[in-house]
Amino acid sequence: MLHKFTQWLPKKDDGRTNLMVENNNLPRHIAIIMDGNGRWAKEKGLPRIAGHRAGMRTVKNITKAANEIGIKILTLYAFSTENWKRPKEEVDYLMKLPQEFLVTELEELIENNVQVKMVGEEAGLPPYTLEAVKTAIEKTKENDGLILNFALNYGSRNEMVNAVKQISTDVINGDIAVEDINEETISNKMLTSSFSDPDLLIRTSGEIRLSNFMLWQLAYTELWFTDVRWPDFTREHFYEAIRDYQQRSRRYGSI
Ligand code: FPP
Repeated sequence: MLHKFTQWLPKKDDGRTNLMVENNNLPRHIAIIMDGNGRWAKEKGLPRIAGHRAGMRTVKNITKAANEIGIKILTLYAFSTENWKRPKEEVDYLMKLPQEFLVTELEELIENNVQVKMVGEEAGLPPYTLEAVKTAIEKTKENDGLILNFALNYGSRNEMVNAVKQISTDVINGDIAVEDINEETISNKMLTSSFSDPDLLIRTSGEIRLSNFMLWQLAYTELWFTDVRWPDFTREHFYEAIRDYQQRSRRYGSI
């Protein structure tokens, strides 16, 4: 049924842009809250799922753009622990997108040296979604280019609760003393423990909030917001965010 919406899909990214990015002082890790699919669709008189489908094309375009300029980690908020509250039809559709994306794009991701990763709760994800993600992780594990990290069934508070539980267990078992718990102990219990914290967070579609996304990890991240809906977000917008980041002075509380 969705084939009739293909006329609305964002264009495939041909890599042409007038906006260049200097390759010094690039953010190592960029995290994106991909927002506005629903509104984008509504504005065109389309069902919300058409917005998600168009958003998937943007995922492809931005992954390509990030890889080409040498970004090391791209974390995309694809489904939150709160998104289960949406109508069943929409949830079912959102759960099928990772599978569709990873099956159709896997060969190109492998060719482009991209490593696929996931952060989030595996429990609760449909088997076909999890299997597609696990297959992509396995097949790209030898790659050492861009890490494309999907935050899927991810919620930051839930992640923190689990970290507290694990550290409490370690204390009870005598593996760590309470006075030895520090920031590193907590970071190491986060689902993101193998990644550096995001340097730049982008949120599309005009909402100025974090929506339970990487609350621990974003402590010193530079934030960039745009009114552009995710399906309309292009390589040019992405580079604009990076150029803005490159002009900022990160002081981490110092002067
Ligand atoms: C938020 O927009 C977007 C989501 C909850 C889903 C994001 C998913 C994609 C962009 C596609 C994922 C593709 C892959 C490959 C995993 P919204 O629906 O809340 O928009 P609204 O605020 O305008 O309603």
